[in-house]
Amino acid sequence: MKEITSQTVLKALDEAVSQVRRNLPSFTYQCQNHSSVNNFYPAVENNQWTCGFWPGEVCLAYEHTGDPVLVHAAHILSESFLSRIEQKIEVDHHDMGFLYTPSCVSLFNLDGSLRARKAALLAADQLLTRFQQRGSFLQAWGPMGARENYRFIIDCLMNLPLLYWASEQSGDEKYRTIALKHTQTCLANSFRPDGSTFHTFFMDPETGLPVRGETCQGYRADSSWARGQAWGIYGLALSYRYTSDPVCVDQFRTASEYFLSKLPSDLIPYWDLIFTEGDEPRDSSSASIVACGFLEMAAMLAADEAAYYISWAKALMQSLYEHYRVTDPHTSNGLVLHGTYSKKSPYNTCTPEGVDECVSWGDYFYMEALTRLKGDWVSYW
Ligand code: GLY
Repeated sequence: MKEITSQTVLKALDEAVSQVRRNLPSFTYQCQNHSSVNNFYPAVENNQWTCGFWPGEVCLAYEHTGDPVLVHAAHILSESFLSRIEQKIEVDHHDMGFLYTPSCVSLFNLDGSLRARKAALLAADQLLTRFQQRGSFLQAWGPMGARENYRFIIDCLMNLPLLYWASEQSGDEKYRTIALKHTQTCLANSFRPDGSTFHTFFMDPETGLPVRGETCQGYRADSSWARGQAWGIYGLALSYRYTSDPVCVDQFRTASEYFLSKLPSDLIPYWDLIFTEGDEPRDSSSASIVACGFLEMAAMLAADEAAYYISWAKALMQSLYEHYRVTDPHTSNGLVLHGTYSKKSPYNTCTPEGVDECVSWGDYFYMEALTRLKGDWVSYW
């Protein structure tokens, strides 16, 4: 396996920051769409679940350069997030962590912005409203309580760091308590014995008992959507950091082996792990998410095992850099090509969009993984 070198990590970050700078005029007062259209992101209002990733890139670009222009832009963007949560614009879902961790917790970490802190704490309060006592989980989407929406999704593990952060900041344990409850429900149901994962999982609204796994964005209910697997792997690493529960490490190992065993020769997964060869679209974002999860977990493991995951993370990042990054800004305003947001299959329920495009979180986690490899990063999550 070819691993990315320290020199290439710095070069890749330099290139990414140049692209972020080129994009600032378009995306300082507007957000980046969840995915590109013909490899160019349109600008949109701050009303999608993905709007936090671009401000996260701006914060990471600031960390790489120390350029005050970048932190100034991050402040302007964070004001839009404060206004969004105060006005409750499109926040009736569980993605408060995806929205507020890279956009506002990040900025609070970087310069102590109290307005960013306020926004993130309000978002944590909003996330608590998604908790279902019966079944003990954070409901992902839709009106609360309806049987057809009575489910959680594996992605939600990435929303929980916002709750742990809110408990640390406020001194109120209620956020942490809910995060722990959701984690237990997810650990018990989302991961199959072979390490593969369900994207979504239904609970019974009357009894609170587990009902069944289903997919929305994966190929089939019993396959593993690549990004769900990736959210699961990174989410388990973060859950282990916050809970020290050894079950998180065990499931991380099996979920990681399953993911690695399904990679094609260039190490970048197809959009669902049921595909291991052929010309189905890839989801490059899953590779950078997993690289971040591997680097996060490596810091908590014994040296030999840590070296194994670091080596894989470097190999994934080398392939992304060599074969998937945008090399010419005239061809794309993103950072990483060949992501897949939602691909329709005969068996899933998603709206098709962003297939074989740049995706906003793919760019963010590419920069995060590079920043982690550069060293000494204080996590936003
Ligand atoms: N969390 C939704 C997605 O990854 O597409």
